[in-house]
Amino acid sequence: MRVRVLTDEKAVARAVARRVEAAIRERPATVLGLPTGRTPVRLYRLLREAHLAGRIDFSRVSTFNLDEFYGLPADHPGSYRTFMETHLFAHVNLSRRRIHFLDGTAKDADAECRRYERAIVKAGGIDLMLLGIGANGHIGFNEPAASLSADTHLARLEPGTRRSNATLFGGRVQAVPREALSMGVGTILRSRAIALIATGEGKADAIAQALEGPVTTRMPASLLQLHPDVEVYLDRAAASRLTAR
Ligand code: PGA
Repeated sequence: MRVRVLTDEKAVARAVARRVEAAIRERPATVLGLPTGRTPVRLYRLLREAHLAGRIDFSRVSTFNLDEFYGLPADHPGSYRTFMETHLFAHVNLSRRRIHFLDGTAKDADAECRRYERAIVKAGGIDLMLLGIGANGHIGFNEPAASLSADTHLARLEPGTRRSNATLFGGRVQAVPREALSMGVGTILRSRAIALIATGEGKADAIAQALEGPVTTRMPASLLQLHPDVEVYLDRAAASRLTAR
């Protein structure tokens, strides 16, 4: 893993935005894997600005979001699809048919997960997967557990994960769905390159364990150690418990 420690959240967002810009410049039909959450908000703003300034043309780019709440329609204000529309999709020239999302209203969750895996393969696989990390070490909705699902699956959310998503639901934890559809760790690890992004003190323990601890499903992000091309973008606070620096 190549670890880059930057001064603050702004510098992290700038560095990742430059990475995305370079990927699209090199390959205009890049397939991106995209996360939601607080961490990528600034990054998406920079990508919108880069598009407005004529530096990024998204017209041939494809996107696959990591996860979606199960039971929510795409246009629900709390859905990850709505989050993406607000922060990125509505503002750039992505072709609608190249935006891929898990359908939270699918009756047959397993069939929907299989459809998503097939769509990723059909698009040629994910070139660059952008990832956040939970304070508990989750990636996507792959929560710490004795075992993990390799492929896209229906996941149960931990109470802490539901709490950290409450802002999307007017602060009401009870309103946060208990389940989500999520790429599995195998789906994530099949990406050609991965950029893990973490900012703030609250992520410092998870980052130290994920990067320097043993590879274990109890710390899902530690599985990224198995991938040959991972860049980790950290601010000083998120890097503060790493011993090797
Ligand atoms: P956050 O979420 O960016 O809101 O901290 C990251 C995650 O839980 O994956």
